[in-house]
Amino acid sequence: MEHRIELKTERLILRPVEEKDAKAIFNYRSDSIANQYQGWIPESLDDVHKFINKVSPKIDIVDTWFQFVIIKNNSNEIIGDVGIHFLDTDKKQVEIGCTLDKNQHGKGYATEALKETMNYLFNKLNKRRVIGSIDPQNLKSIGLVERLGFRKEAHFKESILINGKWVDDLVYAILKDEWIEKRQ
Ligand SMILES: CC(C)(COP(=O)(O)OP(=O)(O)OC[C@H]1O[C@@H](n2cnc3c(N)ncnc32)[C@H](O)[C@@H]1OP(=O)(O)O)[C@@H](O)C(=O)NCCC(=O)NCCS
Repeated sequence: MEHRIELKTERLILRPVEEKDAKAIFNYRSDSIANQYQGWIPESLDDVHKFINKVSPKIDIVDTWFQFVIIKNNSNEIIGDVGIHFLDTDKKQVEIGCTLDKNQHGKGYATEALKETMNYLFNKLNKRRVIGSIDPQNLKSIGLVERLGFRKEAHFKESILINGKWVDDLVYAILKDEWIEKRQ
């Protein structure tokens, strides 16, 4: 059996999403105000089960999303998730996304979880470019990627249909060399 990936930081554990996480995920993902810039907002527990069944059980498979849940190591509470989209056939580029429970914003958990995820992507999976796709109005998310050292590469006008509305899309990116340089 394949070894299950687990990433550990000072305060957090990241592990692949499981069916039993559905209720916890529904609790924060269904908040349509906190998650107004997200393309997916579940309306029922069943929506979450479908989502869990759709993500790839294996990491690093082209054209799939892989999903970690973020767990506080001192309470075992699920406080959010990190999604990784494996983009190209050369297997060198990925897109990431992160969602935290509203009650857990402003404590540095997303930064901590993504730092470890990026280290894993660049050092273990040998990726060379990581991108984030962000609504220009999503200032918290822009703050997050800028804190991590991403550069703004593009601003596409009304290029994505989210919840029935055509919205702009910012693309932020960071290369492996830039990431390594930043961490030294
Ligand atoms: C995007 C999102 C994950 C960012 O969450 P966040 O709480 O702002 O980010 P962090 O967890 O890294 O916390 C950073 C904040 O905590 C503060 N902080 C407190 N303790 C900290 C610590 N130990 N380390 C780092 N920052 C800390 C920082 O100063 C920063 O505050 P600021 O926003 O006032 O500048 C969150 O807003 C979210 O879930 N939004 C809804 C989903 C969404 O839109 N996701 C984006 C799609 S990609």
